[in-house]
Amino acid sequence: MTSNFWEQRYANNNTGWDLNTVSPPLKHYIDTLSNKTLFILIPGCGNAYEAEYLHNQGFENVFIVDLAEHPLLEFSKRVPDFPKSHILHLDFFNLTQKFDLILEQTFFCALHPEQRLHYAHHTSKLLNSNGCLVGLFFNKEFDKTGPPFGGNKKEYKNLFKNLFKIKKLENCYNSIKPRQGSELFFIFEKK
Ligand SMILES: C[S@@+](CC[C@H](N)C(=O)[O-])C[C@H]1O[C@@H](n2cnc3c(N)ncnc32)[C@H](O)[C@@H]1O
Repeated sequence: MTSNFWEQRYANNNTGWDLNTVSPPLKHYIDTLSNKTLFILIPGCGNAYEAEYLHNQGFENVFIVDLAEHPLLEFSKRVPDFPKSHILHLDFFNLTQKFDLILEQTFFCALHPEQRLHYAHHTSKLLNSNGCLVGLFFNKEFDKTGPPFGGNKKEYKNLFKNLFKIKKLENCYNSIKPRQGSELFFIFEKK
């Protein structure tokens, strides 16, 4: 999927994944964090409601990255005091900066499954030692060809277990209604 593909989805308002608010499971997780200086990345951030929430809670080092410029420009207008230098219009796989925490929300499922191993290696590479990758994966297959692309617990465990300590990978209890019973919440710590 090229940047053009994603730009078109935003231009045509064809953004069925967009929650229009911070994802409840991620909000719940963010509310457990006390260190406001953590370096946090949201890859494939789209409209980045999680970044807005983090920013409003006083987190100072939040970075967002997306291939599509449209949602980043919208974000910039919506959250004008968010540091412009933390809004990155580029390919996640070209990022080199280090982070303490990477928050995953419908970015992984937007990638072709052939890119999943690359995602696992790249998230690990971007994290400082003991850094964490935290978020949500779909625990289902989709009828139509993706994106989104689905998966299951066993597959995710196999993909990440060599690079991360699987601290949590369980059915998500506080998903939004349409995703109830079809998401896993996970916390993976870099080995
Ligand atoms: C399904 S959307 C999810 C957006 C957002 N995470 C959300 O939950 O609303 C996937 C996003 O990933 C972005 N994306 C896809 N491939 C990317 C890549 N290689 N690097 C950065 N962003 C990418 C797309 O532009 C799109 O905004």
